[in-house]
Amino acid sequence: MPIAVQPIFPTLIATGQLDNYRRYRPDLNKAFEEDKQSGQWITNTVSDKACHSLCPNEKDEDGLNASDGIKNNLKGFISDLTKEVSRFAYFNYGIDKSRCDWLCNVAWLNEIENGGFQYKHNHTNSFLSLIYYLDTPPDEAKTRFHRPHCDMRPTMSFEADRYHDGNFEYVIPNMAKDTFIVFPSYLHHEVPIMTSGKDGKPRRTFACNFIPNRIDTSSYILELK
Ligand SMILES: [Fe+2]
Repeated sequence: MPIAVQPIFPTLIATGQLDNYRRYRPDLNKAFEEDKQSGQWITNTVSDKACHSLCPNEKDEDGLNASDGIKNNLKGFISDLTKEVSRFAYFNYGIDKSRCDWLCNVAWLNEIENGGFQYKHNHTNSFLSLIYYLDTPPDEAKTRFHRPHCDMRPTMSFEADRYHDGNFEYVIPNMAKDTFIVFPSYLHHEVPIMTSGKDGKPRRTFACNFIPNRIDTSSYILELK
């Protein structure tokens, strides 16, 4: 008999704000400017009102695949985010940060104008992902996370009203400017179409993926090369 995955508990995600977040805003702005000027900036294949920085599919000396704008300006920022992700991993997976190094292996910038959207997707090639909110038009274009699609029949039936508070079809965390969210990469998510960014200000975010780079168990050490 094939296995049937049973999603009996809510998925753990984390939200937060860096203590020194003000320090990184000029660096983030500069990264956007550099990538747009250098042409490392591409239009989304589904929505022509959404653009992203280019990921060249080449790792640098830190194992990061990202545009030059990110590599030139955001290494300190990514280092601070990696510390937060390590804390989350401890709570989510029980992997003590002294026994596991987390590596940000891909990072990119996103910009969505009025009428743009990000189609539903997940980051299946990774473990943990992060979205950092730079500019969020009021009441607009927050990320929508979908409940994992698992067939619970016949073992369980899903009755949203009678189950528990965390079990909705989707959740839209109300993220403010200069905050971030960490989530398991398998979670499907999307950005609904932007309809109120009429003042000309786009939605801008930084996003990245994390993988465990080194795991030290009591009996062996696993390292990615
Ligand atoms: Fe995504």
